[in-house]
Amino acid sequence: MLDKKTVLVIGGSSGIGLGVASLVAREGGRLVLIGRDEEKLAAVTQNFATHRRDVRSFSLDATNVDALQAVLIQLGEVDHIACMVGGGLEGQFDTLHREVASLERRSVAALRIANAVLPHLNPGGSLTLTSGPRAKAPASSGIAIGNRAIELEVQALAVTSAPRIRVNAVAPSWMDTPRWDDIPEDQREAQRAIIAHRTPLGRTAALAEVAAAYLFAMENRFLTGQTLVIDGGLGLVT
Ligand SMILES: NC(=O)c1ccc[n+]([C@@H]2O[C@H](COP(=O)([O-])OP(=O)(O)OC[C@H]3O[C@@H](n4cnc5c(N)ncnc54)[C@H](OP(=O)(O)O)[C@@H]3O)[C@@H](O)[C@H]2O)c1
Repeated sequence: MLDKKTVLVIGGSSGIGLGVASLVAREGGRLVLIGRDEEKLAAVTQNFATHRRDVRSFSLDATNVDALQAVLIQLGEVDHIACMVGGGLEGQFDTLHREVASLERRSVAALRIANAVLPHLNPGGSLTLTSGPRAKAPASSGIAIGNRAIELEVQALAVTSAPRIRVNAVAPSWMDTPRWDDIPEDQREAQRAIIAHRTPLGRTAALAEVAAAYLFAMENRFLTGQTLVIDGGLGLVT
């Protein structure tokens, strides 16, 4: 269903976004990738082009909504957008400055991006934001509020954008991506093992399992205002 559709992946040069881009390319979609790191983006773009995929890319910080809108105007036609912009959530009610900063990085940034891109989408198109695990407040209130805020944003935007555009989110639990490259291998493996142990399905997600949720959100024409939780049941027990 994505054949000849133009799909913009904001954050398509690494991790989950790169997984989404690979599935879009496999389905014959016209790929547009955005990332901040020019070299990383160029390498990924070249790799898609080598495999004869229809791909364009733009290096920019997507939280700069003027620059983002300029790209959308240049593109003219965009059918679907998957947005990976997030950043770690942290803080508790007694460390307000950290909590507020992390909300700014994730929930406020997502809302700004959504408002900037929605007018540029073709009718029948979709926007899929990225959320994360539902943590419990107050121990992890930064995470709890940040991710719940995205769920609520998606519900509100789905109603105000209907029937022209659908708006959803994907909420993965911890998974191994280049996001954690700065963490020493043994600590990263320990983190993976802890999450796998807590997760009812007994492991962490494969990249393709999470990426497939974004494709589902793009392709299912009766899905809007939803957050697809891809966590192996972790949220049911924590
Ligand atoms: N991995 C996990 O455990 C996990 C769990 C739950 C939720 N998430 C969320 O899923 C999303 C993707 O995570 P990931 O693990 O795939 O991370 P990743 O491997 O670090 O990839 C992030 C991608 O987004 C791009 N990006 C980030 N901020 C950007 C910005 N302001 N403007 C343009 N591009 C930007 C990055 O490119 P540049 O670095 O070049 O900008 C990169 O392509 C994040 O929102 C994260 O919070 C991840």
